Amino acid sequence: MIAPRIVVTGTDTGIGKTVFAAALTGALRASYWKPVQAGLEDDGSGDSDNVARLAGIGRDRIVPETYRLNTPCSPHRAAEIDGLEIEPERLIPPSVDGPLVIEGAGGAMVPVTRSVTFADLFARWRLPVVLVARTQLGTINHSLLSIEALRARDVPILGIAFVGDAQEDSEATIAQMGQVRRLGRLPMLPRLDAQSLQTAFAAQFRLEDFAG
Ligand SMILES: Nc1ncnc2c1ncn2[C@@H]1O[C@H](COP(=O)(O)OP(=O)(O)OP(=O)(O)O)[C@@H](O)[C@H]1O
Ligand SMILES: [Mg+2]
Repeated sequence: MIAPRIVVTGTDTGIGKTVFAAALTGALRASYWKPVQAGLEDDGSGDSDNVARLAGIGRDRIVPETYRLNTPCSPHRAAEIDGLEIEPERLIPPSVDGPLVIEGAGGAMVPVTRSVTFADLFARWRLPVVLVARTQLGTINHSLLSIEALRARDVPILGIAFVGDAQEDSEATIAQMGQVRRLGRLPMLPRLDAQSLQTAFAAQFRLEDFAG
């Protein structure tokens, strides 16, 4: 069996992609790659560091970001501010031993450059994409728009993963109208650590849905 390489994108920024990606990375015993990190903490850390902690994996399973940009904004602009140019051809999913989880920045239509979006990159990569979506009000619109944008580019959608309190009708409506598989829902965890995240993921998702 070929080890899966799975892309994690979302309906928006700050909705729990990194937390979900960490849960998936831990569950699959995968490696993790964030191609473009726009915005670094004061100590220079980013999503990769949070994933290492929340997936409980060593730095050896974190593939270094291709671009580390200082400003927390869309990569196309963050790169301009740092005075460099992102070359999309350099953003090629690495081959690693075992599964790989890849996290995009922001949402599917976020510009990587002024002419290429993350959705365009996903289409080039031809890897299955998990769409992470909130359960809060507004999610039906954001989720269905994201699904349309991915489908328009023939990006294979593995399914949708929700984050937040259960909203049975919204979740079912998105799955039905968007014709996507509902993979599960991560609740908001009062204490976010590797142990509680793995327990929640195991209770809410089926690992075989992510197998290659
Ligand atoms: N299931 C959860 N339980 C508890 N807290 C969560 C959960 N999911 C996300 N959070 C919190 O919400 C915030 C945003 O989550 P996260 O960093 O995963 O978002 P993101 O979509 O990856 O953002 P970005 O677009 O910046 O990459 C974080 O502070 C995180 O700790
Ligand atoms: Mg993130």
